[in-house]
Amino acid sequence: MLLENDHQIYDNWIMQVILSTMAEGVLVIDRNSYIIRVNRAAENIFMQRQNVLLYRQLQDTTANQDITRLVNEVLNKGKEIFQEIMMIPTRQLYRVHGAPIKNSYGIVQGAVVIFYDVTEIRDFAQVRSEFVGNVSHELRTPLTSIKGFVETLLDGAMENSAICRRFLTIIDDESERLSRLIDDLLTLSSLETNEKISRLKPVCIAKSMRNVMNILGPQISEKKLQVEFIYSRSLPYIKADEDLLGQVLINLLDNAIKYTPPNGKIVIRSKRDESRVMTTFTDTGMGIPEESLTRVFERFYRVDKARSRRHGGTGLGLSIVKHIVESHGGEVFVNSEFGKGSTFGVGFLVV
Ligand SMILES: Nc1ncnc2c1ncn2[C@@H]1O[C@H](COP(=O)(O)OP(=O)(O)OP(=O)(O)O)[C@@H](O)[C@H]1O
Ligand SMILES: [Mg+2]
Repeated sequence: MLLENDHQIYDNWIMQVILSTMAEGVLVIDRNSYIIRVNRAAENIFMQRQNVLLYRQLQDTTANQDITRLVNEVLNKGKEIFQEIMMIPTRQLYRVHGAPIKNSYGIVQGAVVIFYDVTEIRDFAQVRSEFVGNVSHELRTPLTSIKGFVETLLDGAMENSAICRRFLTIIDDESERLSRLIDDLLTLSSLETNEKISRLKPVCIAKSMRNVMNILGPQISEKKLQVEFIYSRSLPYIKADEDLLGQVLINLLDNAIKYTPPNGKIVIRSKRDESRVMTTFTDTGMGIPEESLTRVFERFYRVDKARSRRHGGTGLGLSIVKHIVESHGGEVFVNSEFGKGSTFGVGFLVV
């Protein structure tokens, strides 16, 4: 049987174990603002080594006024308080819960302060609201243009058949762009919900590439581009979802065509590189400025918005490529010399 003293030691030990395994930071503070208990998570939040915080007054351990103010209020008013507090310099955001510890007469003896990390939630909310903002903007642009042309037509421009035809062509192009945008958004969202690609099978990348070259044949001839596809006969099969692979190759070749001036050259190479088949698209196009290289795979990012729009681009093509390739366990890369050309590459795992 455990003696009372043993009970206390045991309870203390259990308390330590619980505190040390908690992901939330915990501080226990006495009524004079001295820290009398602290767990590892809280030491990390305050960026202090083990036991450095213990038995020091809270205001001497942090320059964060919000925390000291919250604790003072809990101690002075005996109230429970919830507040979001940002730690500097880490910019981690915490939902902080301060609760008074009262004795049996209801007199405040101290406070317990718990820190819940809500940084990810904040970042996620930010990304989502930026995304919604971008989508709304992208949808509004063609809609505004369609509405403008329809109003001008109704105001009388309809009577002139040449103008009427020109405006209707623009309306047709803009509706086309709207529908492409919605298709791209649906692709992205279905990629995001089915994190794992389920229809993986051995695929011959050379066959898929030839297919894609056929589909984009008219655009290639229209711009009088020279397109070469170089690959070895012994190229192994890759593990891929054939439709999604097709989409990756189409998006990359489509960009190479769109961003290369007439009479330019595009070279596509597929070769084995250890456990992967790397496929690169090298064009003699306009290239990408250095500062944009890391951003071209972001949703809606375009180096030159006006130019991309003229080509009917949504700015989602490369983010779809990145998403598909990464969900296949592969990787994407880009190299470019501004004004000379670009090389985009994708690697897929060999079967
Ligand atoms: N081969 C390339 N040469 C030069 N710039 C490129 C090339 N490929 C992509 N870019 C730049 O990267 C941006 C993003 O490309 P992405 O494919 O995501 O969008 P987009 O081509 O504008 O639109 P979409 O693919 O929906 O038609 C483009 O707007 C363009 O500025
Ligand atoms: Mg594109």
